[in-house]
Amino acid sequence: MKKVLVLVAALVMVTAPAFALTIDGSKHDLSTYGTANTELCVYCHTPHGGNTLAPLWNRGTGTAITKTYNSATFDMYVAPTAATLTASDAPLCLSCHDGATNFNAVTNPPAAALANNTMAAGNAVLGTDLSNDHPIGFSYVDAQTIAANELALFADAVTEQPGLAGGLFGSAADQMWCSSCHDVHNNAIVPFLRVNNASSNLCLACHLK
Ligand code: HEC
Ligand code: HEC
Ligand code: HEC
Ligand code: HEC
Repeated sequence: MKKVLVLVAALVMVTAPAFALTIDGSKHDLSTYGTANTELCVYCHTPHGGNTLAPLWNRGTGTAITKTYNSATFDMYVAPTAATLTASDAPLCLSCHDGATNFNAVTNPPAAALANNTMAAGNAVLGTDLSNDHPIGFSYVDAQTIAANELALFADAVTEQPGLAGGLFGSAADQMWCSSCHDVHNNAIVPFLRVNNASSNLCLACHLK
């Protein structure tokens, strides 16, 4: 009987949604920050009274972006600016990853107090200067049109690495965003990557190098 129970338990674990298993206890499970609160979604979503920056978003946008990526060889018609980046998901991520906005700065707080701190200094703090981070906030297809022999066709990149398909909350599918490479809900491929970067496979799905 015990063996049957163990088997049933194992099956339940295997068939449970990958979602719950991967955010629970991950670095995006802020309920681990030692407060009375045990909810983990609440730091980013609320069932009521949220805003439309992302689905049922429970936060603001973080400190304003001050600088964006550019270089002499960057293949874009118009380099992204802080203004165009506000239409990406970067401000959502920066509502913690700026290292300045408190985790408890939520729109609709639960009854139990939330973690009362900002992100500890380290690599995960991107700050508000994104000029030293991989460029985002533009159309992949536009860039690929300019740098045809340097970037894979978007369709080919997505065939090779299906996780790269975008289209988050109504954006064009080919927008380069934080979520083009990351999946906030899933840390199965650390650090929250959509596709495995072993042998730089993530990079090579897009870059013909
Ligand atoms: C650290 C912040 C964060 C946490 C914690 C978080 N989410 Fe999200 N969630 C986001 C962001 C950002 C988006 C929009 C980007 C996207 O679609 O992946 C999103 C989108 C969603 C969406 C719509 C798009 C999709 O992926 O299905 C659902 C549903 C969702 N979250 C549910 C949840 C639930 C349920 C939890 C708790 C178990 C949770 N989220 C925890 C940040 C978070
Ligand atoms: C509610 C706050 C919050 C939001 C919003 C948030 N994060 Fe995080 N994130 C964290 C915390 C806390 C950590 C752990 C930081 C540390 O290790 O010091 C983290 C860690 C990470 C890591 C590193 C994981 C690792 O294993 O080293 C990545 C990658 C990441 N976040 C991506 C994102 C992206 C992309 C977004 C937006 C789509 C986002 N985060 C939004 C709080 C947040
Ligand atoms: C082109 C793909 C790509 C984009 C776009 C991207 N990242 Fe990352 N990110 C990565 C990879 C790959 C790593 C792992 C780097 C490593 O382990 O050395 C990473 C690591 C991180 C980390 C962990 C800390 C670190 O430096 O290792 C955080 C936090 C993070 N990214 C947040 C973000 C946020 C926020 C955005 C949007 C502003 C973003 N990323 C955009 C690919 C990307
Ligand atoms: C989803 C597609 C995609 C992925 C994945 C990706 N990149 Fe990019 N990357 C681009 C696009 C598009 C540009 C902007 C066009 C250009 O200048 O080549 C770019 C720009 C760059 C640049 C700046 C080029 C310049 O001339 O200023 C570097 C360097 C770079 N990527 C390295 C990487 C590395 C390293 C990885 C893996 C960690 C990676 N990229 C993953 C699409 C991607």
